[in-house]
Amino acid sequence: MTGGRRRVTLCRMTQTSLTDRTRATAAFLDDVLKGLSRVRKTLPCKYFYDERGSKLFERICELDEYYLTRTELDIMRRYAGDMVARIGAGSTLIEYGCGNGLKTRTLLAELADGAHYVPVDISQEHLHATAAQIVREFPHLRVLPVTADFTRPFAIPAEARQGRRIAYFPGSTIGNFGPQAARRLLRSMRRLVGPSGGLLIGVDLPKSAEVLQAAYDDPVGVTRDFNLNLLARINRELGGSFDLDQFEHRAVFNRRRSRVEMHLVSRSDQTVRIDDEAFSFRRGEMIHTENSYKYTLRDFREIAAGAGFRLEHVWLDPREFFSVQYAVPAADE
Ligand code: AVI
Repeated sequence: MTGGRRRVTLCRMTQTSLTDRTRATAAFLDDVLKGLSRVRKTLPCKYFYDERGSKLFERICELDEYYLTRTELDIMRRYAGDMVARIGAGSTLIEYGCGNGLKTRTLLAELADGAHYVPVDISQEHLHATAAQIVREFPHLRVLPVTADFTRPFAIPAEARQGRRIAYFPGSTIGNFGPQAARRLLRSMRRLVGPSGGLLIGVDLPKSAEVLQAAYDDPVGVTRDFNLNLLARINRELGGSFDLDQFEHRAVFNRRRSRVEMHLVSRSDQTVRIDDEAFSFRRGEMIHTENSYKYTLRDFREIAAGAGFRLEHVWLDPREFFSVQYAVPAADE
């Protein structure tokens, strides 16, 4: 890989002369070049979610095979009242990411007049559209959207710091973080909510390989398109030359590491250019695009403990496929 020249060019430009968009594209390029230069090629899963990728993900959530969304929503519909009784109806709910708001709406409906809702998302457009809709639907709440990458430190408005702060992280997105990264993220949540705050989080659980395989390799091929869209995005935004027909989607459950791995497998010996770089692929060579960890209740309790949280309650569906967990700062924190 000969990515040095491009990186030097970007470094010479002053930070302030880069628009946010240019900066995001530079980071994307840098991550892609780094990932494809590894002996075992990787691409970060956070880049799945451009406009098309987000739409494909919404379609995944509606698939019969993708049990996660429906199961979590069932848990929320059943227990939202109980959850809000624990977190406190006047609390400030800080949502990490603002995706499909159905699950969130079950909680918002239970919050008291004047409670704060702080959705945090990297996509300003999406965030503001969602926030405006929430304001219309829940006029009793104070909605304070924050544009930020929640994997980095961010601040919330002073007004939202007054009540009890609860970090809400639905969707088992925590499963897209390995144990160490998950602990780091929870630690930053612990800092944000303070000693009297709390954490409400959706965590997918281990289950049979057949169920997991079907969820991540659906018969309609929506997950395949979602995975391949990453290559299409590289072509579109970074001038890549991926031939999408020359890669296939593969999802495997790695039982030892308790995670579903998604890969893109090269169908032939080929060379792909990204801007002025060339990457060669052997037939059968894989790009690892995503891990989706299925943490046991015990694993997750340990991760949370390592981040300074003590688990207080777990809500499950009857099949015990999915959990919504409530944690508070540990006494010795
Ligand atoms: C966003 N995240 C929780 C999804 C998951 O299940 O890991 C992303 C996804 N990947 C394939 N299908 C859905």
